[in-house]
Amino acid sequence: MPVLVNIGQLACCRDEGSQRNIQRIDGAALVWEGEHIVWVGRERDLSPEHARLERWDAGGGLVVPGLVDCHTHLAFGGFRAEEFARRIAGESYLDIAKKGGGILSTVQATRQASKGELFDKALAVLREMATLGVTTIEAKSGYGLSLDDELKLLEVYDELNRAQPIEIVPTLLAAHVVPPEHRASRTAYVRLVVEEIIPEVARRSLAKFCDVFVEEGAFTLDEARTILEAAKRHGLGVKLHADQLSEGGGARLAAELSAASADHLEHASDDDLSALAEAGVVGVTLPLASLYTFGTPVDARRLLRQGVRVAVATDYNPGSAPSYQLPLAMLLACTLNRLTPAEALKGATLYAAQAIGKEGEIGSLEANKRADFAVLDAPNVEHLLYHFRVGPARLTVKSGHAIHRAGTA
Ligand code: NIG
Ligand code: FE
Repeated sequence: MPVLVNIGQLACCRDEGSQRNIQRIDGAALVWEGEHIVWVGRERDLSPEHARLERWDAGGGLVVPGLVDCHTHLAFGGFRAEEFARRIAGESYLDIAKKGGGILSTVQATRQASKGELFDKALAVLREMATLGVTTIEAKSGYGLSLDDELKLLEVYDELNRAQPIEIVPTLLAAHVVPPEHRASRTAYVRLVVEEIIPEVARRSLAKFCDVFVEEGAFTLDEARTILEAAKRHGLGVKLHADQLSEGGGARLAAELSAASADHLEHASDDDLSALAEAGVVGVTLPLASLYTFGTPVDARRLLRQGVRVAVATDYNPGSAPSYQLPLAMLLACTLNRLTPAEALKGATLYAAQAIGKEGEIGSLEANKRADFAVLDAPNVEHLLYHFRVGPARLTVKSGHAIHRAGTA
């Protein structure tokens, strides 16, 4: 049983108070046994018994709950850097998609990729995520779009969960776009998702959630309802890519279906947001996607005024958000979405855990939760996000074990 001492400031991020309430403790200590936290408090209040434990030194740094990236598209074939240049030159995300680029070009590359290739590429990303203080992520399928190719992506996540320490919560996103071979009959594809893909994924417990991209060029509200109701019947939780490029009713559907989260929300109306708040659905802001697509960022203050909890995630994917730097997304959540640094921290820890149904286990530093935490090189979260530097984690601990120490490979 070790104790972490010499902590400059520790942010508990318990489910108390509003989003800005992160329960800071100056001069803190943290005790854990095996995989779980036993005690959190001020170092001077350590019991004599805890004071004698093996001591880990935080070097006066900031200690936060292990960061949770609650929206990623982790595994995919290829990249699409040429589209980045085209968008800068003026083409829109939708125009590029209509000309054969976008999601469908990644579907082609993903279908061609072997499981081993997808595994190795994702593993390299996970290793870097550990250096950022990230300890849990959500990861979607959605670049396979056939039974076998969606299973291939979810099997990669399953194998990664056995092979490395960052926990991956898998989400089925077979309803990302309609694949080319079903373009003539959308209903046939929706039927494939409902009658074959969802049942098989649920039977093999390969996903915890089902997500639908509700948007022009992707899926309609009615198709999303059909798919997500089927997912619920098979015991999956639901999520939605909602109101990203236009107001499409996705947020209201998320409320109606008691989704775990509604993600993006750039174009959601006040009524949509108050429906989300009433249904207790977490809103997920993905400011990297706004940054890379020249989109209008979410006004997170509007979400907070309507009573919505705002989680922050990267949306890591090869098109709209090709970065997995969650601390950068937190900075952008401040400068583009106008969350304060404390609010961004609660959004990337406790509320992100709620968005993936893991809040009973992770997301805050308190007794009985998992010993998932990061020691960051900053006196407090304000300084961390203001004086932004790449790779701020000195130490990342997952379930009581160090998974990254600065200066060691
Ligand atoms: O979350 N919105 C849909 N899917 C991704 C984009 C995926 C891609 O461009 O490959 C997103 O932004
Ligand atoms: Fe996404």
